[in-house]
Amino acid sequence: MALTLLTGGTGHLGQDIVQRLVRDGHRVRVFARSPGVRSDVEWASGDLATGVGLREALRDVDTVINAATFSPIARRGGVRPVDFFRSPSAVDVEGTERLLSLGLEMSVRHVLHVSIVGLEAATLPYARVKLAGERLVRASALQWSIVRAMPFYYLLDSLLSGLAWLPIWPVPTTQFNPVDTSDVADHVVTCAFDGGRGERAEIGGPEDLSLVALAGQYRDARRLNRKILPLTVSEAKAQGMGFVVSRGVRGRLCWADWLRRRYFSAQSAA
Ligand SMILES: NC(=O)c1ccc[n+]([C@@H]2O[C@H](COP(=O)([O-])OP(=O)(O)OC[C@H]3O[C@@H](n4cnc5c(N)ncnc54)[C@H](OP(=O)(O)O)[C@@H]3O)[C@@H](O)[C@H]2O)c1
Repeated sequence: MALTLLTGGTGHLGQDIVQRLVRDGHRVRVFARSPGVRSDVEWASGDLATGVGLREALRDVDTVINAATFSPIARRGGVRPVDFFRSPSAVDVEGTERLLSLGLEMSVRHVLHVSIVGLEAATLPYARVKLAGERLVRASALQWSIVRAMPFYYLLDSLLSGLAWLPIWPVPTTQFNPVDTSDVADHVVTCAFDGGRGERAEIGGPEDLSLVALAGQYRDARRLNRKILPLTVSEAKAQGMGFVVSRGVRGRLCWADWLRRRYFSAQSAA
């Protein structure tokens, strides 16, 4: 059976991709710095930032899904001043380059690269790193696909939790459609095996809501007594922060339901 190598398979999106691949009967190898516990996939230890283990991981691979990234903001769940100045590129740029050149050498048939909607207008250094990774994929002699997704609910949840201590939350009024990783995983797995190539339909969440509405639903789900201060920002500034609305495929899970799953059980247990 054809073998699929997944990078980032221990991450938020990656775990959902593994779930879909296994459910659909694919043979899966996960490239990871620390192997996980699932016994229904193969684990290949290695590091994209150094290239250790990558050649062995690519042996006999037909399709690569590249969902690895190093995003300091996603990792810590909050923005720090340093994020406006730099973002490490070792995984998303140099790691992608290694994956592509070794993939070519080892006759991989298709590489699907996961990326983010609206990178051209976004101003954070992480966006520039992601854009540089995409450019390498487009320039590759391999058959490639790029799937861009809107920000994930888990990230919005952690960013909003960083505001929770404030009595008043300043929030832009911008429209936005974040998405759940389960919906992105479905789309990614479809695009990996449907025979299509190139820039694939981007994916966002089912609803276009203002950030004020998203923050209000979050506050209510957590039963916090806070005021939201709507801030009008220019379209350019909003796009610079990555607050856009996607124009492609829509996921199914809405923010309110995601919040219910995330916080209802916590509140019932309390
Ligand atoms: N988060 C969002 O809102 C969002 C939105 C749109 C698109 N995306 C894209 O979706 C993809 C997945 O994002 P995510 O939020 O699910 O990421 P995540 O949860 O931060 O997971 C990142 C994955 O990359 C792996 N990784 C990091 N450094 C590595 C290295 N040196 N070598 C090998 N693997 C390494 C991590 O492995 P460890 O377990 O070892 O750390 C983890 O499995 C990325 O391409 C991201 O740009 C994310």
